Amino acid sequence: MTQKSEKTSSGDSMDHVSLFDPVSDQSFDLPLLTGTEGPRVIDVRHLYRDTGYFTYDPGYTSTGSCQSEITFIDGEQGILRHRGYAIEDLAAHSNYLGVCYLLLYGELPNAKQKEAFVQDITHHTLLHEQLTFFFRGFRRDAHPMAIMCGVVGALSAFYHDSTDINDPDQRRLATHQLIAKMPTIAAMAYKYSIGQPFVYPRNDLDFAANFLHMTFSLPAEEYKVSPVMARAIDRIFILHADHEQNASTSTVRIAGSSGANPFACIAAGIASLWGPAHGGANEAVLKMLGEIGSKDRIPEFIARAKDDKDPFRLMGFGHRVYKNYDPRAAVLRESCHEVLDELGIENEPLLELAMELEQIALNDEYFIQRKLFPNVDFYSGITLKALGFPTSLFTVLFAVARTVGWVAQWKEMIKDPEQKIGRPRQLYVGSTPRPYVPLHKRS
Ligand code: ACO
Repeated sequence: MTQKSEKTSSGDSMDHVSLFDPVSDQSFDLPLLTGTEGPRVIDVRHLYRDTGYFTYDPGYTSTGSCQSEITFIDGEQGILRHRGYAIEDLAAHSNYLGVCYLLLYGELPNAKQKEAFVQDITHHTLLHEQLTFFFRGFRRDAHPMAIMCGVVGALSAFYHDSTDINDPDQRRLATHQLIAKMPTIAAMAYKYSIGQPFVYPRNDLDFAANFLHMTFSLPAEEYKVSPVMARAIDRIFILHADHEQNASTSTVRIAGSSGANPFACIAAGIASLWGPAHGGANEAVLKMLGEIGSKDRIPEFIARAKDDKDPFRLMGFGHRVYKNYDPRAAVLRESCHEVLDELGIENEPLLELAMELEQIALNDEYFIQRKLFPNVDFYSGITLKALGFPTSLFTVLFAVARTVGWVAQWKEMIKDPEQKIGRPRQLYVGSTPRPYVPLHKRS
């Protein structure tokens, strides 16, 4: 492949890469695209039409599926920015709803915009009362993620005023409804799974405090929201708000590319997030720590993680994009220690085990060579455990936080004039044509 630059009729220079096909003895020019940051991109949109070839890229490791203005990641440098703002700055100076506004509307809100946005989200937190009966159809021991998938998918049956994707007002309403209702659904899924009564939202509390109130309070006694906990949860929400074209966001985009309504698309995103290679990893980290049990067993598990014949992987380590310290993990690591200090948690065996594991892995040649660093899930699991959240709620919290990323990306896709139904091709390796065999002649 060679690269060349030529002038267009308007005098601009247009870069191409040239692809030589030895079979047809022909060269094909593929345009090079340039974003505002990040590596240049080969435009292969017309590759099949012009050459008769497809590209093959399982896991889309080298494939860009869309143009986006929302989030920039440089995995080599460990950089994450939303709309140009560093995640470290947002975590230090904004709150979650400020970040939501930024992701949805492109700018940090001024005081008036922020007030109106917070007011609107706050007034959409209640669920249609009929939905409470829907929860009761699940088994008591259902995982809260299973309940969430079902209930969020069902929202389109309850909110008919926000499913027309071609109406910008309905799109705005649906995105606000989803951000507002997800914490209520998450808390209700949890309450249902432990047999406690549902707790309704309170409009005098902020987003994070209201979530804690709905999750942990009981009608029988007063519950005072701890400001340390509320701030820690709000920061976890900020750190998980968006992460460009990850598996669940791509799922939302693909589902939405067919014109499906936003509630159905977010339900698809939740299903994708649940997997242990994605959002389920923070739950898997705690399970793994429980399995390791004590510091003296760490070498045994490190050896298993390094053994290519053993499917075991160190949960909370490695990332498809970050080949450096995940910047969210760096913020959360600090936040995790703050939380432990402020809550006066010392000598928590699982936490001590996690810190020891982190040190051993960071100094091990296998992990260094493959650039495997702790990811955000490693510390979110530990922080949430310290904050008293049950393990089954970890991925649920991730889903609550990521909802804004999903809806912002979905909204961007709907407005994109280049948007097409997502439909990858394949390399077919099955049988070639063969005659049908009647049942009595089959061996
Ligand atoms: N433990 C041990 N080895 C690992 C790990 C791990 N956690 N992660 C990657 N590796 C190894 C692989 O075995 C491979 O080794 P090899 O080159 O000798 O074959 C090499 O590192 C590269 O790994 P890939 O699988 O190619 O990396 P990929 O980008 O496909 O996977 C993933 C990324 C899925 C996150 C992976 O690192 C993993 O499974 N980690 C554990 C689960 C986890 O923490 N997921 C959370 C991701 S963050 C998020 O969703 C918010």
